[in-house]
Amino acid sequence: MFLDTLLHRTFGRPNGLLGRLGGKLMSRSKGEFAAWVIADLDLEPDDRVLEVGFGPGVGAERLAEAVPDGFVAGIDASPEMVEQARKRNAAAIGDGRVELRYGFADDVPSEDCVFDAAMTMNSMQVWPDAVAGLRELRRVVKPDGTVAVAFTHHSGQSKDELPKLLADAGFDEVRTGDRGDDFCAFAKV
Ligand SMILES: C[S@@+](CC[C@H](N)C(=O)[O-])C[C@H]1O[C@@H](n2cnc3c(N)ncnc32)[C@H](O)[C@@H]1O
Repeated sequence: MFLDTLLHRTFGRPNGLLGRLGGKLMSRSKGEFAAWVIADLDLEPDDRVLEVGFGPGVGAERLAEAVPDGFVAGIDASPEMVEQARKRNAAAIGDGRVELRYGFADDVPSEDCVFDAAMTMNSMQVWPDAVAGLRELRRVVKPDGTVAVAFTHHSGQSKDELPKLLADAGFDEVRTGDRGDDFCAFAKV
């Protein structure tokens, strides 16, 4: 129980000193993983993409590289992570190409059908209501857009559970990809 709380404060929903440390640790190892997920999103240079649960902002940084003429929006439920991710992406934020805000997966502050794609990495397993969050991603992505839901092996998320969660959220076309122990579901809107 104590260990669960500690892990949650460090990585799940980073909070305080431990959370800041967790953000630093996550930022060291997630670049390649994010690049692998993004490569399969087939983004166009001017696409608009959402990331939910961006943590220290490595994924958002990679997304901004993938859409140099587009826009990356992100929300995360940890003020500590918003601060770290904004620092990491300061130049692109200054150029108006990236916007990172405090917010929750089940209440995305966007209108319907405004993004070409959405991505979430190692985050859904700690959302209070995964299906509500996935429904929100489906709502804000345009028809025919893709939602990528990715996990590393130590996230605690069951791969077998993913298709049902995505189906319950309204997705009917889902494929999965694997990279060693990492996995990602790509769901079409
Ligand atoms: C394990 S970290 C992963 C960070 C990053 N995506 C990565 O792979 O390195 C989980 C992140 O999801 C965020 N998060 C947790 N619950 C959330 C929610 N309900 N809505 C949005 N973000 C959430 C946390 O604040 C944290 O930054």
